[in-house]
Amino acid sequence: MRWIVRIILGLVAVTALLIGGLFLFGPTVNTPAGGLLAAVLPFLETPAATRESTRSLEVADGYSLSLLANVPGARVIRVTAAGDLLVSSPSSNQIFLVDHVDGSVQLLLADLDGPHGLEVHGGYLYIGEDARISRIAFDGERVSGELETFVGDLPTGGGHWKKTIRRGPDGDLYLAIGSTCNVCIEEDQRRAALWRYDIETGEESLFATGLRNAAGFAWDRSGRLFATDNGRDLLGDELPPCELNEVVEGGFYGWPFAYGDRVADPDLGAGRQNVIEASIGPVFEFRAHNAPLGIEFLRSAAHPTDYRSAALVALHGSWNRSSKDGYKVVSLHPVDDGFESRDFLSGFLVDDDVSGRPAELAEAADGTIYVADDYANAIYKIVPSERGSSQLTITATQDTDLLAVTLDRPMWTDGGCAACHGDAEGQVALVSLGAKYDLDSLTDYLQRPTSPMPPVTDPDAAREYARALLEATP
Ligand code: HEC
Repeated sequence: MRWIVRIILGLVAVTALLIGGLFLFGPTVNTPAGGLLAAVLPFLETPAATRESTRSLEVADGYSLSLLANVPGARVIRVTAAGDLLVSSPSSNQIFLVDHVDGSVQLLLADLDGPHGLEVHGGYLYIGEDARISRIAFDGERVSGELETFVGDLPTGGGHWKKTIRRGPDGDLYLAIGSTCNVCIEEDQRRAALWRYDIETGEESLFATGLRNAAGFAWDRSGRLFATDNGRDLLGDELPPCELNEVVEGGFYGWPFAYGDRVADPDLGAGRQNVIEASIGPVFEFRAHNAPLGIEFLRSAAHPTDYRSAALVALHGSWNRSSKDGYKVVSLHPVDDGFESRDFLSGFLVDDDVSGRPAELAEAADGTIYVADDYANAIYKIVPSERGSSQLTITATQDTDLLAVTLDRPMWTDGGCAACHGDAEGQVALVSLGAKYDLDSLTDYLQRPTSPMPPVTDPDAAREYARALLEATP
């Protein structure tokens, strides 16, 4: 409680200074209050407000759940031939190898450029970086030699810059490139599309278009390709739905002229009726702003019968909905006219409080499912078995003091950060950044953030912000 006393003392000091300022300089001197506050802040010290949080996660009947490892900013998971996990961390520019038995985490590659998609083929690890698909020799345990460019000059930056790659049943490598914006007509035709590369020659072909952000895609047992797609923002709480599309070669999926099942977009849909009618609607609609990312069709015979043809989808969760929604893994079960959705892994969202954000998932050959959570920096392990526990309780201590310090920095409010970040409803709280980032990686993140956050384009400003943020939430 000592910090409360410090704050009170600090406020008294500020008031005294303000009054003193008025006396000394008179009301004509225009001293920004932020400057005065900043001058007093060093006396306040950073208040070490912490909150103990306990979170309980629950998995569907027939499965047991445990925490395998903590990995900073964990996103895409690929299971190696030995059953271990390659895990990308775009926010820290690293790739980790996680032992599937004891959960030990080993840093495999660092200083990459926003690594997201991963694939292993022919003795190489392929990596979807911001500006290229790179590859490096990989024997299942170690990388060797130099990182080389497999496909270069990819369009970078903008809202949806993360590159997802995955090898199809035809042996080709597929690449999803998201849109730069919420809704706009792209100048670069490579955006908002799915591309295909011959993995031997690198020869490129356009596969499908009109996909705003097909962050996750996977093939079912019969070889049909399905991709998640995140609907646009700023049409209110209930619109538009996020989508699951069955993607066929040459298909056009509507963005930016239409959303959902060929509904004209209010901004760009007018006068495009022909284009919209020719577009392909989704095979399943998720609730608005649920943000489906990773998808995996289950293959193993170890699963309970009604899961053997199901797909699992990670719903990262809403950021701009008045009450939060998503934040779970669902299983999609084929029914006559599409899919039926059931909760598979839940408990990340309780009373509008978020304790985790499932982003990606993968199934190992023995049916074990791994889920990556880039908010709680965790990899969960889910085994098709009644024997373990279907619940997992994790206790963590979190710092909750960010805005007490940062709000006083004019750049925080001038830079527009305060509109989205804070403890208010519908805002994103920034906590424990020091646990995830160092100065370099946070500077990088701010220049290349996750949509919908706008990038801080000036590198010096990004470093300034990063320094201040790390000071505020160590
Ligand atoms: C339009 C809303 C918006 C604005 C404006 C915005 N952000 Fe964000 N920011 C977000 C969202 C949403 C996330 C979470 C992204 C995710 O992980 O899905 C985020 C994430 C972050 C993170 C990473 C948090 C973590 O736990 O990894 C940092 C740091 C951050 N923002 C700082 C800033 C700063 C500094 C500014 C001002 C220059 C700013 N943001 C402006 C929406 C915004």
